[in-house]
Amino acid sequence: MPHFLDIHTTDPAELRHMIEQARAMKTARDGLPKGSPDAEQPLANHMVALIFEKPSTRTRVSFDLGVRQMGGQTMVLSGQEMQLGHGETIADTARVLSRYVDLIMIRTFEESVLQELAEYASVPVINGLTNRTHPCQIMADVMTYEEHRGPIAGRKVVWSGDGNNVCASFLHAAGQFGFDLTFTGPEVLDPEPEFVALAREKGSRVEIIRDPVRAVEGADLVVTDTWVSMHESQSNRERRHNLLRPYQVNEALMAHARPDALFMHCLPAHREEEVTSAVMDGPQSVIFDEAENRLHAQKAILRHCLGV
Ligand code: CP
Ligand code: NVA
Repeated sequence: MPHFLDIHTTDPAELRHMIEQARAMKTARDGLPKGSPDAEQPLANHMVALIFEKPSTRTRVSFDLGVRQMGGQTMVLSGQEMQLGHGETIADTARVLSRYVDLIMIRTFEESVLQELAEYASVPVINGLTNRTHPCQIMADVMTYEEHRGPIAGRKVVWSGDGNNVCASFLHAAGQFGFDLTFTGPEVLDPEPEFVALAREKGSRVEIIRDPVRAVEGADLVVTDTWVSMHESQSNRERRHNLLRPYQVNEALMAHARPDALFMHCLPAHREEEVTSAVMDGPQSVIFDEAENRLHAQKAILRHCLGV
């Protein structure tokens, strides 16, 4: 079953094909109103369920819009409003939904929920973020980098801050797309060693450098994310802020990266916390291109999963 659960478990040639297809589909829509159909309608007669157990703006709107542009239909479901949120098992939910829809996208908490859904569904499942990974985001980010600066292979990406789910998918992408990744952040918030090892096994140079200034030297791309992810307890907020404050991405830090370095953030951002408005709204920032490219990248992911 061609699920899209993670970047490191998807074949690199297929990942590359999805990026190229996303770019071609984006170009083909240039200048069209957002709600107009694509010239090709590969999802005609397809029904897609979009399940959210956590809040979302980009993932929800971009998947819904993408399916519709390709001629398909969507149902947006909230986990709490489903029996899933009231004790029905994941396995039964997967088997029931597979009788109604052609594909399931889910944003959830534990990765095990995603894995179990994929195991028991007889239709493809897409990971729309778990506590551990966020692969759709990084497909959009790779596409965005390459639109602006050409091939990402061999480039130096610096992640500053929390070694969270988005950072994990960046590490997975480093191995699959052949770029290097430097993590800078406090040791207690390091990315999972398993993911670091995996990227290194695939030939990426992965470094962990505590000093953010030294870390960003030579960076082609600087990335950060919120200091308190949706699954983190708010009671840890102050501690996390104190640990992460030295890793804020600001103009002073960006000045140590390459002059043509880009800045990315998956959004939503907390302005003046993990990143300053001067950087977010500055000339190196491509944050809204990333947000737009979620749409195009996910349309290619949907086609990959449905084989259309
Ligand atoms: N970046 C991202 O996934 O945003 P949402 O939480 O708004 O979907
Ligand atoms: N790391 C963030 C990403 C949000 C898109 C979170 O999990 O809340």
